[in-house]
Amino acid sequence: MAEPVTGFSKKTKAEKIDWLAKTYLNNNPEALRTLQKYWNEDLKLQKLHDDFIENTVSNYYLPFGVAPNFLINGKLFALPMVIEESSVVAAASNAAKFWLQRGGFKAQVLSTQKNGQVHVDYFGKEQDIVSFFAEVKPKLIAGISTIQKNMKKRGGGLVDIELISKTEALNGYYQLHCTFETLDAMGANFINSCLEQIAKDFEAEADSYAPFMAQNAFPEIVMSILSNYVPECLVKAEVSCPVEKLAQKDISGATFAQKFVRAIHIAKTEPRRAVTHNKGIMNGIDALILATGNDFRAVEAGIHAYASKDGKYTSLTNAKIEEGIFTFSIEIPLALGTVGGLTNLHPLVKFAFDLLQNPNAKQLMEIVAVAGLAQNFAAIRSLVTTGIQKGHMKMHLMNILNQLEASETEKKKAVAHFNDNTVSHSAVISFLDKTRA
Ligand code: MEV
Repeated sequence: MAEPVTGFSKKTKAEKIDWLAKTYLNNNPEALRTLQKYWNEDLKLQKLHDDFIENTVSNYYLPFGVAPNFLINGKLFALPMVIEESSVVAAASNAAKFWLQRGGFKAQVLSTQKNGQVHVDYFGKEQDIVSFFAEVKPKLIAGISTIQKNMKKRGGGLVDIELISKTEALNGYYQLHCTFETLDAMGANFINSCLEQIAKDFEAEADSYAPFMAQNAFPEIVMSILSNYVPECLVKAEVSCPVEKLAQKDISGATFAQKFVRAIHIAKTEPRRAVTHNKGIMNGIDALILATGNDFRAVEAGIHAYASKDGKYTSLTNAKIEEGIFTFSIEIPLALGTVGGLTNLHPLVKFAFDLLQNPNAKQLMEIVAVAGLAQNFAAIRSLVTTGIQKGHMKMHLMNILNQLEASETEKKKAVAHFNDNTVSHSAVISFLDKTRA
């Protein structure tokens, strides 16, 4: 059985690996070779990656793909996408091409405010904390002047602080609800630094506030942290065209549009479908979020919360047919950065931004929303016509062939064969058996 290790983070990379090898890997040289295979020869680049997190022992690759032909607000983009799922980039490219011939995507940022809370415990008279807050609010704002100096210069910074009583939901619970404009930064560090300073000043001022002293009830800070729920930082993307322009190989425009809208209504109504529906949207969104070095966990958490904002988890996209026009849209909250964080550090993130023509945060919000909408369009289009597996398994074929260690010639033969045959794991095995025999 393994023993606990002390001072692990202080060990060198070689010592860490040595400890892992001895403790968990039976000193298996193959395991070590695997780790080493992914080290970068460029030592400076490797050091950069080592320093992103603690205890780095290797690098973990994901494919960096590109989906071209995205016409967004009249401008053509090739979207950088980092993802492991075989069919995602192909589906995005398909949707981009489809809408390229039908007017492209329109996207628009609706709002850009972020927020965070100082969570406060207070069990005294409500009127006293209300009066106290009114009195100290200017001091709280002044207290963060150094932190927000640069952000203010650029036109951002703290927008407001409100005292909100949450005592009906939780006894003694108040918030300092703070709103921020963080421009091109995602703003997590900026917001958290502001909140912690506000909390400190709030508590210090409270210590000498006579009405609190008189009742010996002082507000106490529980914690201060930004919220990843950003319903005031919203973006909308949309496609639309006359219904007849949706006609495809085996289906009329009208039938396709009706089936499509019905599929959206089902995802609107049924949470079990909505989760998968939205997962498909996130395939596109996360791939771009990863490629641009943004925080996909924050984006995921915020978007799913938004999908439940009316008390029931529902579809993030909407579709309708009105006066012969099919419209398909998405509205999502997105707190993204095009400066700060990994954006200035990771060479591939820098490449992704160059590829996107160096958008600002608002433009990136628009592009990401479009990626989500496009991905959903591709999924629903397949689901209501051919079914998802045809395209999905076609893209997955190469993974199966690699898993079965097929040669390049076998792969070529398999791709030709499965052009008109259904791909499944067993079908590929039997095809290879036959070819090899
Ligand atoms: C697969 O990654 C995503 C889909 O399941 C999305 C959907 O069902 O809408 C195809």
